[in-house]
Amino acid sequence: MEKILHTFNGMEFTVGHAILEFSYLIAAILFVWGLKLLSHPETARKGNIWAAVGMILAMITTLFLHEDENGARIGLMNMVVIIITIGIGGAIGLVISKRVKMTAMPELVSFFNATGGAASALVGLLEFGNPGNESLLVTLLGLIIGSIAFSGSLIAYGKLSGKVGGLSAGFMKYVNILLLMGVIVLTVYILLQPDPQAYVYLVYLLFGVSLLYGILFVMPIGGADMPVVISLLNSLTGIAAAMAGFIYHNLAMILGGIFVGAAGSILTLLMCKAMNRSLWNVILGGFGGGSSAIGEEGGTVKEITLSDAAVLLAYSQKVVVVPGYGLAVAQAQHITHELEKVLEDKGVQVKYGIHPVAGRMPGHMNVLLAEADVSYDKLVEMEEINKEMAGTDVVIVVGANDVVNPAANETSGSPIYGMPIINAAEAKNVIVMKRGMGKGYAGIENPLFYRDNTRMLFGNAKDSIQKLVGEINTL
Ligand code: TAP
Repeated sequence: MEKILHTFNGMEFTVGHAILEFSYLIAAILFVWGLKLLSHPETARKGNIWAAVGMILAMITTLFLHEDENGARIGLMNMVVIIITIGIGGAIGLVISKRVKMTAMPELVSFFNATGGAASALVGLLEFGNPGNESLLVTLLGLIIGSIAFSGSLIAYGKLSGKVGGLSAGFMKYVNILLLMGVIVLTVYILLQPDPQAYVYLVYLLFGVSLLYGILFVMPIGGADMPVVISLLNSLTGIAAAMAGFIYHNLAMILGGIFVGAAGSILTLLMCKAMNRSLWNVILGGFGGGSSAIGEEGGTVKEITLSDAAVLLAYSQKVVVVPGYGLAVAQAQHITHELEKVLEDKGVQVKYGIHPVAGRMPGHMNVLLAEADVSYDKLVEMEEINKEMAGTDVVIVVGANDVVNPAANETSGSPIYGMPIINAAEAKNVIVMKRGMGKGYAGIENPLFYRDNTRMLFGNAKDSIQKLVGEINTL
């Protein structure tokens, strides 16, 4: 029998228990340290590693030292099953991480998010009927939030990968309100019963309604508004994991869940601000509209030759590069950095204008440009760079579309109306690099391409910039 160090509320604390709790404290410190390092592109990689070390520590000590209410070491008793499960999951994760392309990362993150939500929902389903379970409200909340995060993230995965289309109708907002009310009424009804655990069938109904709500609130999200929903789903998964941690009295799970939930909530609010949307609208779904093509269609676009572009850039004083999703597709970050250096050698000042939702995941452009060793102080946020636009000689739009679309400022019926953009059109000249007249994520026309001061340089962004660098070097 292990030595009992301390008794509290009838619970006995052993040496093993003390070591376990201490390891959770160390893990929590490593999570916080990891998060802090993650906040800067230069240290983000280290941050990931430190947080992973914390998680591995918590997993190992839980496996060996976690006890159930009767003092049995359940991890040790189920070691074989646990190791096989971790082995299979780890192998799948390793293969996926090696194979997935950087541009498919957002879909993968949504998919992983769905698995986190599913795990928490399953914990809720399994543990509700457990006679030792004293936290029924928390269990139901974990089940509801986990189910919404699961089905919502799967739909988000489908939408990001182009496998699921939009479904948008004005009445869906009311269906969602009804479903949310259904979830609340069912939860209260179950909890008010003298013996709630006898109503497991109602818990399954609650599970079904929550899944349906997750699907229907993400389904109609259109325009350029997916980033807000993705970060909201991310924070829901964290909150659901924290609820599961409460059920198992597991401090590491509670803390890990709270960190993800808090980071996701902060990101959601920042995204709402970046897109000029209200959180309430996000929760009820259906904002941003579908992919209707509103804008100045038709008209003619003017092209620019490589040599003209080279001369224009080389004799400018100030150039701003606005990167977007196409830069990620073309993997043009290194050659863009090269262009920056070549221009600076000619005495041109070069900066990058970073829109908060450029690309397909938060911080996408920062990560890509950091990978290419672009100095972080050259990356200027949207509000700041907009102040400098009128004094900029040339804006080079590299594979960006929605984030420079003036329809967001000017066309009140547009699905992206109200979303702040980088006001590239205000610069003296705009060069847009893209392959053709393809639309951006929001699926709408971009009047910027038809403006008098805009000229198009068609082609794959990496090839175009490569040739441009060659041309500038000959000047
Ligand atoms: P988009 O509006 O998606 O436009 C990308 C443009 O890149 C396309 O118009 C495409 O035109 C061009 N392109 C594609 N491949 C290219 C290549 N190899 N070379 C050159 N150009 C290429 O990009 P954005 O301006 O970055 O806006 C991001 C959008 O995604 C927003 O609507 C945002 O809301 C949404 N979104 C963002 C996130 C996050 S968190 N960042 C998450 C989900 C959705 P061509 O086909 O003509 O080449």
